[in-house]
Amino acid sequence: MNPLNHVAIIMDGNGRWGIKHKNSRNQGHKAGLNTVEKIIRETINQKIKYLTLYAFSTENWKRPKKEINYLFNLLESFLQNKIEDLNKKNIKLNVIGSKNFSKKLNRLISASEKKTSKNTTLQINLALNYGSKIEIINALKKLRKNNIKLNETNLSKYLQTKNTPDPEILIRTGDTKRLSNFLLWQLAYAEIFFEKKLWPDFDEKDYIKIINKFKKIKRNFGNI
Ligand code: IPE
Ligand code: IPE
Ligand code: MG
Repeated sequence: MNPLNHVAIIMDGNGRWGIKHKNSRNQGHKAGLNTVEKIIRETINQKIKYLTLYAFSTENWKRPKKEINYLFNLLESFLQNKIEDLNKKNIKLNVIGSKNFSKKLNRLISASEKKTSKNTTLQINLALNYGSKIEIINALKKLRKNNIKLNETNLSKYLQTKNTPDPEILIRTGDTKRLSNFLLWQLAYAEIFFEKKLWPDFDEKDYIKIINKFKKIKRNFGNI
């Protein structure tokens, strides 16, 4: 059976779900939060140590202001209301992406990270204003500035996912088969699962099915 330490998820399909069920994309984002909670719970049940969730990409700024504001308000109240609970569950929260939001949100993120920094059951990397290409460029710039030899190990150390093993599984919900600038380096050998279901409809059973399928895959890594 394949070991499993890290699951990465592109949580896609909220907007379509919202339009279909509530005639509002934003209501889809709200519904998507329930799935986030379910998946966190099951990740702990499965004893998986790292979970990286794509919540907002560097490209998502192209969306209408109204939707962007709704998303960030949702995030703010999630952090305000749930950080205590995450902390009790011994979860460490780590935000990846460029942290240049409102003062209030920046402060909330820093406080949440600090509060949970010593926790060890599960590390959640929340990808917010995250883009993989800019992450790689920034890592390369730092290596050059510090005169550090450019090789795979050193580059990995300067990515925002430093100290996190590469994901063995990538899940993308929402019936779309692309990476959308997510973890391009880190996913080099990931097993990829594209799910038809929209994120708010995705549940523990779907998640467990993927995990069980993954465990039986013959992972070659170039070997035979
Ligand atoms: C993913 O759902 C969540 C974010 C990008 C914030 P979408 O909002 O992309 O949902 P669809 O793809 O439009 O249905
Ligand atoms: C990717 O979904 C980003 C997140 C899930 C946060 P998008 O819905 O933004 O991706 P594209 O634009 O369809 O590729
Ligand atoms: Mg989408």
